[in-house]
Amino acid sequence: MKKILCINYSQSGQLHEIMDNVVSPLQEYEIDRIKIEPKEGFDFPWKTNNFYDPMPETVLEEPNELKPIEFKEEKYDLILLGYQPWFLSPSMPAAALLQNEEFKKRVNGTPVVTVIGARNMWLNAQKSVVDHIKDAGGKMVGNIAFVDRAQNWLSAISIVHWMMTGKKTRKWGIFPLPGVSQDDIEGSSKFGKLLSTCLKEDDFSDYQNQVIANDGLRIKTTILFIEGRAKKIFYIWAKGIKKKEEQGKNRKFWIRFFRFYLNFALFGVAPILLIVYSILIRPLTQSSIAKKKRHFAFLGMTAQNA
Ligand SMILES: Cc1cc2nc3c(=O)[nH]c(=O)nc-3n(C[C@H](O)[C@H](O)[C@H](O)COP(=O)(O)O)c2cc1C
Repeated sequence: MKKILCINYSQSGQLHEIMDNVVSPLQEYEIDRIKIEPKEGFDFPWKTNNFYDPMPETVLEEPNELKPIEFKEEKYDLILLGYQPWFLSPSMPAAALLQNEEFKKRVNGTPVVTVIGARNMWLNAQKSVVDHIKDAGGKMVGNIAFVDRAQNWLSAISIVHWMMTGKKTRKWGIFPLPGVSQDDIEGSSKFGKLLSTCLKEDDFSDYQNQVIANDGLRIKTTILFIEGRAKKIFYIWAKGIKKKEEQGKNRKFWIRFFRFYLNFALFGVAPILLIVYSILIRPLTQSSIAKKKRHFAFLGMTAQNA
């Protein structure tokens, strides 16, 4: 019987629910369902003071320690790897998993489908995850990206409400609901059904086309624009803060400074840049935008027939 590893971390339980739904139509196979946990958990709900604290280590992909992982099998026929981006990078527990030698051994030579549960910015994180999978010898065969479908700035406000209160409710009763919608979470089983056919036929070559056809991944031009610039700036901040810390400077002060910078960039600078971009540059770069979207939609995969 074919064996599937379904593995992820989740703070609020959102990604656990998505992964459970994706894997639910695959019960005829042997499923090893693993929910990883860091040795020292992150607070949930977060406090304003500590939410930005893991930024430098997350961006630089310094792994935190995980509780021991007990894999049932040495080898799987398919790995479903769920993760959430933090600061445009794989979350710290996800980065720790990707650097775990026992996990890497199982990735080697195995088809991998990544399942993302994000706010809306996952492109840079996915690039990094795909690099880890490739380095470990895995075969990327699919990527499903579940996001908050609300407008970028509204979802930025509503996710903070969720993260700081632990409640996936409307801020002040008026903002959109935060996170991946319940409809999308419940509908995620359709991607498992599609996988079942691929497993039976031992052929994943068309899977990503089917994911896209079923609305399992969408890339917005504005997000492509923001992500194309923001990660480089995050690296500079991450390295800068670590250096200040090594020099004995107050980490908390610099983290707070980053927090102000990020809010200013997101709510002050980005809207102006996006208006200029949409009027002057976007109309002239349509074909390169389409090429980049295609590149990200099939990152690390060989089939690009969509
Ligand atoms: C510290 C932190 C940073 C985050 N950064 C991003 C990000 O860069 N891009 C994004 O789309 N979502 C971001 N999110 C949202 C998460 O990817 C995720 O959707 C949310 O935390 C729920 O995941 P859960 O299943 O672990 O509860 C961030 C969340 C946290 C806690």
